[in-house]
Amino acid sequence: MRTKKMNTKRLSTTIEAALNAQMTKEAHAAQIYLSYGSWAERQGYSGVANFLFRHSHEERNHMMKILEYILKRGGEVAVTAIPAPPENPQNISHCFEKVFSHEVDNTNSIYKVVKMSLDEEDWATWNFMQWFVKEQIEEETLALDLLDKLKISGGGNAKMNDLYVFDRDMAKASGEVKSAQDVTIENP
Ligand SMILES: [Fe+2]
Ligand SMILES: [Fe+2]
Repeated sequence: MRTKKMNTKRLSTTIEAALNAQMTKEAHAAQIYLSYGSWAERQGYSGVANFLFRHSHEERNHMMKILEYILKRGGEVAVTAIPAPPENPQNISHCFEKVFSHEVDNTNSIYKVVKMSLDEEDWATWNFMQWFVKEQIEEETLALDLLDKLKISGGGNAKMNDLYVFDRDMAKASGEVKSAQDVTIENP
């Protein structure tokens, strides 16, 4: 008699669902950055737009990273519809306030997966998720730094000239930001 097919799935159903949800959340983040980037470009801030477009690409790489992990662990990937991005920001300062709150929201969602993996003693997923924990610190810090710079320029009431300088700095800075595709779990 043939033995039952060996179970090669190394993820619980709950973790698999949570990882799939997080994967979609990263895709949603990519859409948000695409949307805000297009808004910034239309306002004439091409430095900011370039930064946001690059960031969109990073979020897509995060999505792929989770997708690959689910498959590697014998799980099933569920590609679903991505929610539409929220409304456009009102000004550059508001844009980065929104960016910061989206990142915090994503961090909270990542923490939930970490907590779940801890409860289930799924140490592989716990370890995998640590890369994201670290990445979120970087992303939150980056958004806060940019908000600080804008605050010095007057926040929502920043003068055109200050915004011009900010945009020019962003155009220069975006070339220095490490791209997620060059990053590995060992070398985040
Ligand atoms: Fe992300
Ligand atoms: Fe992010």
